[in-house]
Amino acid sequence: MEFMDLHIQEEDLLREIEEVFAQTLKTARYVGGPFVENFEKEFARWVGTNYSVSVGSGTQALKYCLWALGIGEGDEVITTPLTFVATAEAIASLGAKPVFVDVNPETFQIHEEKIEDAITSKTKAILPVHLFGAPAEMGKIMDIAERHNLWVVEDAAQAHGALYRERKVGSIGHCGAFSFYPTKNLSAMGEAGAVTTDSQEIVQKVRLIENHGQDKPYHSLFPGENGRMDALQAGILLKKLKYIDRWNRRRREIAEIYRREFSGLVKMQKVEEGSVSAYHLFVILHPGRDKLQRELASWGIPTKVYYPIPLHLQKAFSYLGYRRGDFPAAEGISSSLLALPIGPWMKDKDVYRVVEGMKKALKK
Ligand SMILES: Cc1ncc(COP(=O)(O)O)c(C=O)c1O
Repeated sequence: MEFMDLHIQEEDLLREIEEVFAQTLKTARYVGGPFVENFEKEFARWVGTNYSVSVGSGTQALKYCLWALGIGEGDEVITTPLTFVATAEAIASLGAKPVFVDVNPETFQIHEEKIEDAITSKTKAILPVHLFGAPAEMGKIMDIAERHNLWVVEDAAQAHGALYRERKVGSIGHCGAFSFYPTKNLSAMGEAGAVTTDSQEIVQKVRLIENHGQDKPYHSLFPGENGRMDALQAGILLKKLKYIDRWNRRRREIAEIYRREFSGLVKMQKVEEGSVSAYHLFVILHPGRDKLQRELASWGIPTKVYYPIPLHLQKAFSYLGYRRGDFPAAEGISSSLLALPIGPWMKDKDVYRVVEGMKKALKK
């Protein structure tokens, strides 16, 4: 069994992707063009926003959201220390300062009750991450943002299709950032990402940023970047978009089996009432995590640790001056979290192999 099997499992989809390659070869349209335009339209429709802009990665999507909102040197952005490094990197890459807030020990999401204490006169935005596919507490986060006149950028890199009170994540804040890295619920065959928003102003700015600040060829308004998505990736994503709801349903089915079978045995990530996780990852907490992981590995059950070092303790962010003990919930989760295999490629027999393996290991 693999932790994530990234092969295309569906014959129909395989054929459709082969057509995308054939069409690209025939038209020689490698950048921009109908695949990109159609994917942007269809992805925005699926997320429930007026617009989406395809970009080169999730990291660029985050950076361009913040950039388009005017965040830069001297500004502060509040986020979680329990996330992939790209979240805080996007803030730092613009010269702004990541300000970490501890997570809720039950949901593992940024603790909405601790956000207000971190707000200063320099705070410009809140950047919640929908961690492991489950929505952050967006209602309370949007209320805080409104009260303090702050922007909200959602890091939805792990949460394609997750619902918060019936709205898809990425459509709730002022701007959403998605990754289509090959391991994600909706994935490219390489690097890709997207920005989602209802704001025409943000879209216009992101389109300039990702295209060297050019409003027309060879007329640059400010120094931007090359952050465009390849046409080939857009074509592949367009085809996969038809499958994502089915794939997410299968993830939820597997999660339900795990929840039922592990109830009372281990702590699992709480998904708030009214929220539906996209189950990018299924994670459990166990004090003897390393031993449990070794035991499962010895029976051929692969698992992973997300994230072994929270961002406030990473060398990259040592300049911020945080210390061990600053965010006890994030640190505690980091040292006891184990992600079990989950994904649409898993057959019931794979799921029950994990269940039986876990039960046997937990008895030891
Ligand atoms: C929470 C989170 N944010 C941002 C990213 C960055 O996305 P990418 O790898 O596409 O740049 C990822 C994924 O890698 C992620 O998991």
